[in-house]
Amino acid sequence: MKRIGVFTSGGDAPGMNACIRAVVRTGIHHGLEVVGITKGYQGILDKNFKVMTSHSVSGIIQKGGTILKSARCVEFRTKKGRKQAYKNLKAAGIDGIVAIGGDGTFTGADVFMKEFPDIKFIGCPGTIDNDLYGTDFTIGYDTAINTAMEAIDKIKDTASADARLFFIEVMGRDVGFIALRSAIAAGAETVLLPETKTDIKQLTKTIEAQYKKKEGSSIIVIVAEGEEMGGAVKVAKKVAKKFTALPTRVTILGHVQRGGSPTAAERVNASWMGVEAVRALVAGKKGIMIGVVNNEVVHTPFEKAIKHNREISPTLLDMIEILA
Ligand code: F6P
Repeated sequence: MKRIGVFTSGGDAPGMNACIRAVVRTGIHHGLEVVGITKGYQGILDKNFKVMTSHSVSGIIQKGGTILKSARCVEFRTKKGRKQAYKNLKAAGIDGIVAIGGDGTFTGADVFMKEFPDIKFIGCPGTIDNDLYGTDFTIGYDTAINTAMEAIDKIKDTASADARLFFIEVMGRDVGFIALRSAIAAGAETVLLPETKTDIKQLTKTIEAQYKKKEGSSIIVIVAEGEEMGGAVKVAKKVAKKFTALPTRVTILGHVQRGGSPTAAERVNASWMGVEAVRALVAGKKGIMIGVVNNEVVHTPFEKAIKHNREISPTLLDMIEILA
């Protein structure tokens, strides 16, 4: 293997740049030429290839977003598109790729490699959602939790001045990891997740109990965007009909959570995964996602990483109301 490519795909996440930097510099360390592919799979089809140097990744470790940009690519979902992608990669002499992204990215890589096994893909988990099996954390997750926590802290400042019932929506279309962790970290009264049933009657009871316990102070409810009822706005409307002791306010944190400078933990983990991805390619591996479980590097086949969704910890979930 002489030439490898690296790209980011799907939803961008803080820490992707640290990972790109690690892939480029580790590749160079192993005597490989590393080609940056701009805009994910679309970039392969458009031949957006550029040889990267150690210098081209200088000063990016602290930056959110991704210098290689990201895109959704409909054409790559077709056999014709993938055939063209193969031709372009072969013509560019690229026979190994580090793909930084989430389940969509790895699904694409898996299908492609079954058709064209001589191009080796290794994945680095890049998504703020933390919804991949085979790693304790994905690139972007730690920063997103911290961003959400800081935003909730700020809402708590105003909540301490004037009592209200706050519903704060955080990201997580299919999973509630950001919601659960940010709720614990910010000391919210309760949380709603896609993994649990939303029972308005029970929620109202919890809010009432907390309201009594807190002697009329503000209540904070964290809502994952993929929660059963359709998010914070809908839940707030329903609860407001039953609980009238406090005025209700809704905040949707949205894409704020996808940006920002990555935390120290994020930078270290993203760098580690990038280094390991290149090592795996050099060792002739393919079709696996690099993960870190209990501080050890783990290789998980794409198919498993995508399909085996991780479960929410009941212990953490229980903690929220005990500690509220
Ligand atoms: O990156 C994953 C995610 O943050 C989801 O939680 C969210 O639903 C989605 O991205 C929104 O991304 P976009 O607006 O780019 O489709």
